[in-house]
Amino acid sequence: MIGLKIPKKQANTIRLILQEKSILGHEWKIKRVDDYVYLPLKKKPDAMLLSELNLSNSNLIETDFEKLKKRPQSIEDFLKDRIPPEKMDEFKKSFDIIGDVVILEIPEELEEEKYLIGEAALKFTKRKSVYRKKSEIKGVHRTRELEHLAGEDQPVTIHKEYESHIMLNVKEVYFSPRLATERRTITNQIKDGEIIIDMFTGVGPIAINISRTRKVKIYAIDINPQAISYLKKNIANNKLQGEVYPIRGDVRDVMNDLNIQANRIIMNLPETAYKFLPLAIKYLESGGIINYYQFSSDYSQPIKMIKSIAKPRKVEILDQRKVKSRSPGVWHMAIDARIS
Ligand SMILES: C[S@@+](CC[C@H](N)C(=O)[O-])C[C@H]1O[C@@H](n2cnc3c(N)ncnc32)[C@H](O)[C@@H]1O
Repeated sequence: MIGLKIPKKQANTIRLILQEKSILGHEWKIKRVDDYVYLPLKKKPDAMLLSELNLSNSNLIETDFEKLKKRPQSIEDFLKDRIPPEKMDEFKKSFDIIGDVVILEIPEELEEEKYLIGEAALKFTKRKSVYRKKSEIKGVHRTRELEHLAGEDQPVTIHKEYESHIMLNVKEVYFSPRLATERRTITNQIKDGEIIIDMFTGVGPIAINISRTRKVKIYAIDINPQAISYLKKNIANNKLQGEVYPIRGDVRDVMNDLNIQANRIIMNLPETAYKFLPLAIKYLESGGIINYYQFSSDYSQPIKMIKSIAKPRKVEILDQRKVKSRSPGVWHMAIDARIS
């Protein structure tokens, strides 16, 4: 192929000019022989460029260059040559990163390749542990089974979300990094002085996010003892301006025992939050706000639900959002409602 033989001293300047003119052959390795450098070229430079570079046709030579090995740029790139092409379509590119943990979805068709995929995820994400989803999110605690694939089997990690440090065990508690934007949206709504009940707090990512920047009181409730145990650590590990009171138990008992009127109630249990609406409405002051979540294909279903349960109280819908996709056509919906 065609190359440009130039003295070592001029090589860098000329290389940069050829690069700018898109003439340099990037897929080939530059050669160095004695006091000369050989630059691989995509095409022959014209006479004008050669004279601009103080070179002549005698600098152009026919020679061989070694092909550069292209490093894979993504997991998909890396796996392309290792997984049969017909199975490559099955490979789900999306995965969650929670602190040092990667959680992948691998369909059964790729069972034989699961460790290879796990190692690739470890390599490309530079995290410490890789797990595969083995079940849907299920049960009262909203957790899922995970299969260890690569790296350390270490499910305890600290996830950084904006400036919050959230410690959790991915096997024992619910946590989704995909709710980060929603948590910020809620935090932005909140004013100093609010009294808030976070009915289904988990390890407390919303409570921590809010109280880091707002002087509020948050009663953070969860039925999962592990979630409350991590929430306590998260309260200690983050610099909070507000006060967070972690309470373990079923909201039905805890809220009746607390017996307070809140300015805001957060209800992030999208599968069954509607069952707890009567309880939330009972302990929400007049003019207070409910941040309500429900799986639904449209906004009208959750709005109808809130309005019918709040009756005869007046419901004003302040905002509605699609937080994330749950399944084709079904969304994790957020509704902000003022109830007077
Ligand atoms: C979808 S997770 C939400 C966690 C948290 N809000 C977050 O953003 O990560 C729902 C949580 O509700 C808790 N939960 C379910 N039923 C409950 C109940 N009756 N009383 C209190 N907590 C409950 C589960 O243990 C789980 O941690």
